[in-house]
Amino acid sequence: MSKKLTVPDIIEMKKEGRKISMMTAYDYPTGMFIEKAGINTILVGDSLAMTVLGYEGTIPVTVDEMIHHTKAGARGAKNPFIIADMPFGSYNTTEEKAIDNASRFLKEGMADAVKLEGGTEMAGITRAVVDAGIPVLGHIGLTPQTVAQLGGYKVQGRGEERAQKLMEDAKALEDAGAFGVVLECIPLGLAGEITEAIGIPTIGIGAGVHCDGQVLVYNDVMGLFDKFTPKFVKPYADLGDQILKALEQFKKEVEEEVFPGEEYSFK
Ligand code: KIV
Repeated sequence: MSKKLTVPDIIEMKKEGRKISMMTAYDYPTGMFIEKAGINTILVGDSLAMTVLGYEGTIPVTVDEMIHHTKAGARGAKNPFIIADMPFGSYNTTEEKAIDNASRFLKEGMADAVKLEGGTEMAGITRAVVDAGIPVLGHIGLTPQTVAQLGGYKVQGRGEERAQKLMEDAKALEDAGAFGVVLECIPLGLAGEITEAIGIPTIGIGAGVHCDGQVLVYNDVMGLFDKFTPKFVKPYADLGDQILKALEQFKKEVEEEVFPGEEYSFK
């Protein structure tokens, strides 16, 4: 049985050039599958607002909802290192509120760490949460909670000035004690430069191959969410299609009295 990673193990993986694989999970069965596949880090992303709860964006999801799903994922995955996304409004206000909410993810949600969106402007909050003993994963580039400010879901960091800002963001998060940083939707060359420039792992999503690890949203990967599919998503399965076919077949068999046949009935 492999053992749960720790923060130093994750940082060591970068030093040794071992890639980090991370997948989102929002429930018990997904946690189990991820563990069985040997993926050693799980993100309970606030993307669940859209992929599981049917909201239009990530803003409405609450700490209670996130904790509910974090706990479920964690019950299915004993070994993977579990990072819970802190929802909008739960950390980007005061240090005290950020620490209190982050603590809940560890105490109630069975998480090992939390993720916060934002760069230099979140460095103070990141430092406060880390100093309270809670590991923090940063998240820069396309940050879905502030997508309206960014002008939509599009590539970030194009142009000298914007690229420089992302480099400063990554360094500020490292200085603030984050154990890693998600780079979302940025050009692969810039992601490579940031990865070289900092000592903590970068986890890419739409940020190319030079990152120290990769994360994708489970529902995108499995073909379970078709509202929109970003260019960086590689579909590894089409479960949505299989589920639909199975449900249609069930309906047909019920209507035609094919199901339940004798083998599914008691005499
Ligand atoms: O919420 C989420 O799933 C995320 C990933 C896209 C990194 O933040």
